[in-house]
Amino acid sequence: MSILITGGGSGIGAATAKRLGKRVPVIVADRNLPAASAVAAEIANAGGKAFAVEVDVTSKASIRAMMSELERVGAGPIEGLFNNAGINIRQRIEDIVEADWDAVFNTHAKGVLLVSQAVLPQMLARKRGVVVNTASDYSVIGVPGLGAYCAAKTAVYALTKAMAVEFTEHGIRVNAVGPGPIDTPLLRAGRAPAEAEERLAMHRAKIPMGRLGQPEEVAAVVDFLMSERSSYIAGQLVHPNGGLVMW
Ligand SMILES: NC(=O)c1ccc[n+]([C@@H]2O[C@H](COP(=O)([O-])OP(=O)(O)OC[C@H]3O[C@@H](n4cnc5c(N)ncnc54)[C@H](O)[C@@H]3O)[C@@H](O)[C@H]2O)c1
Repeated sequence: MSILITGGGSGIGAATAKRLGKRVPVIVADRNLPAASAVAAEIANAGGKAFAVEVDVTSKASIRAMMSELERVGAGPIEGLFNNAGINIRQRIEDIVEADWDAVFNTHAKGVLLVSQAVLPQMLARKRGVVVNTASDYSVIGVPGLGAYCAAKTAVYALTKAMAVEFTEHGIRVNAVGPGPIDTPLLRAGRAPAEAEERLAMHRAKIPMGRLGQPEEVAAVVDFLMSERSSYIAGQLVHPNGGLVMW
């Protein structure tokens, strides 16, 4: 059995792959194949089992190609799915460009749907599986300049609940992890280094723990949600966020 991690080439996905890869074979899937391969190589060098594969989660054809490749190399059955690939585009509501809205929604909401549709039949056939979707603190609050991202992450949370009510009775648990600000490349994307640092200092000041989270701290939560230790948890959004959002 194996665990498929999308967006496994960087940040939260990479940290999760490295943590889970110590004891379970992991499939590191990313549109950035060199990055995914580097993560898989690190896991293998540390004695784990990992396979890197290219996928664009917004494309059904690309997901189909990934599934064929996984079948070809015998990297299954997939018992765990971490739908985690993500992008962020910052625009105030009045400036949101339709193509950017589509890119954000296609990556997060449609990406979760399409990859789940590809993997769930294996889980249903075996009546066994765990899915964790990466939502966000921003699934439940509004943030200026992040309208598309907030809406897409709210959709991921809604989809998580819908999946949980459809699949729990078939032996498949579905939950979401909702990180606060985590120190990954995504947090700095689209900003000049000085501006990014200024923004991050503002973030830190608002976080009760006074610091950004580390990807490994999200990986620990995903590990828990993937494990039997969370056997009675379904359809929930669990927040590793230093206390930033409480609701
Ligand atoms: N960093 C944070 O503060 C934070 C907070 C809440 C939620 N998140 C979410 O966590 C997830 C991981 O983000 P991260 O912070 O590790 O960012 P990251 O940029 O470090 O990693 C994201 C990975 O996703 C991959 N990716 C993007 N689009 C893809 C696509 N269409 N198909 C396949 N792979 C794709 C990228 O190549 C990259 O390797 C995202 O869903 C993000 O929205 C991040």
